[in-house]
Amino acid sequence: MMIVTSPQLSGLVVGAIPLIVLPIIVFGRRVRKRSRAAQDTLADASAYASEAIGAVRAFQSFTNELFAGRFYGGAVDRAFGAARLAVRARAGLTAFAIFLIFSSVVAVLWIGAQGVLAGTMSPGTLGQFLLYAVFAAGALGALSEVWGEIQQATGAAERLTELLGEDPLIASPANPEPLPEPPLGTVGFDEVTFAYPTRPDDSAAHALGFAIAPGETVAIVGPSGAGKSTIFALLMRQYDPQAGIVRVDGVDLRRADLAEARRRMAIVPQDVTILSGSVADNIGFGKPGATRAEITEAAKAAQAHGFISELPNGYDTEVGERGVTLSGGQRQRVAIARAILRDAPILLLDEATSALDAESETLVQKALETLMEGRTTLVIAHRLATIRKADRILVMDRGRIVEEGNHASLSSKKDGVYARLAELQFGAERAA
Ligand SMILES: Nc1ncnc2c1ncn2[C@@H]1O[C@H](COP(=O)(O)OP(=O)(O)O)[C@@H](O)[C@H]1O
Ligand SMILES: [Mg+2]
Repeated sequence: MMIVTSPQLSGLVVGAIPLIVLPIIVFGRRVRKRSRAAQDTLADASAYASEAIGAVRAFQSFTNELFAGRFYGGAVDRAFGAARLAVRARAGLTAFAIFLIFSSVVAVLWIGAQGVLAGTMSPGTLGQFLLYAVFAAGALGALSEVWGEIQQATGAAERLTELLGEDPLIASPANPEPLPEPPLGTVGFDEVTFAYPTRPDDSAAHALGFAIAPGETVAIVGPSGAGKSTIFALLMRQYDPQAGIVRVDGVDLRRADLAEARRRMAIVPQDVTILSGSVADNIGFGKPGATRAEITEAAKAAQAHGFISELPNGYDTEVGERGVTLSGGQRQRVAIARAILRDAPILLLDEATSALDAESETLVQKALETLMEGRTTLVIAHRLATIRKADRILVMDRGRIVEEGNHASLSSKKDGVYARLAELQFGAERAA
């Protein structure tokens, strides 16, 4: 309608559009960048808050509440500042767009008025054109607002897109090599060298080599930080080694189907994760879809049935963040029940009984022994009783296997690492 009314004035308006749109695009970029920054700082503040709330007891014990409050205050201020900048950029975009649009309406009015004065245009035509121009300008203004919103959303979504686009370094190959069926239960390390990605110069495993036969029980001993838990992390393929091959049932873990290989192992980790949910859920975590009867049976075998029955709602008691907090020993027994329920051919025990008192330990030890029967077991051990029963002992120090043998052969080795460790660690036990 604008073109029908006055082609000249319309030409003017069309010519003005790039002049309006270009600055809007530039402003839009700024909106996007600032809105991304706002999102990032807000995420930092929330992450700190959730960590601090989760560790509230530690903060209280070390009387660090004020410090944490101040730190969080700072993080929130930063998030607020960033959000203000983002809003300012958006407001600037809108204001600028509206200013430009209505300036061009004024320009149209001025040029049109010149035409009316010169007699080349009738006042009615100018009025008509102006009316259309105002409608068009209003629509453009709304569009610029939508553009601002899109830019803001894009900035905020960038973070999500990045996360979603992240390719896991550890993934199943496209054509996995099948694992032998039925499972053999063998484990092998072949010249495995590994450093954690955060500490690339410090290898936690150094040319590690060993092979474990089906049904064998192997104890791993060594000072703290020797790399014992690292062996389990490599076996579970939470990391890939920089050199060498980790094998489960004879298959290179990197070539096997990840879930299939992990399904052949049950782990009782050093620090047990308790999820929010009921006790039964937490034990059932070991085997999705387990029945209540199976869960109870596993709990009984792990010597956990007693304390669970005494909880306010028994197996349905909420634990974790929103419920009852379990003691270290109770957590360990839940983890053992999980592993029992999993019923995997390879059992990985990482100081599984370290948090238990002597009495529960004896009981759990019995349960573990039953569980270990007919399974390949790697046990990171700290008690003489467990180590003595192992078929073989690997002694680790600084990422290397320094000695290998059984309790008798290793203890008799004068100046050996194991002999010294045994003296320090088990001297008291033996005396008792
Ligand atoms: N996730 C990790 N990132 C970086 N370094 C780690 C990580 N986990 C363990 N380490 C380091 O690797 C070494 C071996 O650790 P670990 O295997 O846990 O020892 P432990 O024999 O006590 O179980 C230690 O020096 C430890 O600090
Ligand atoms: Mg450890």
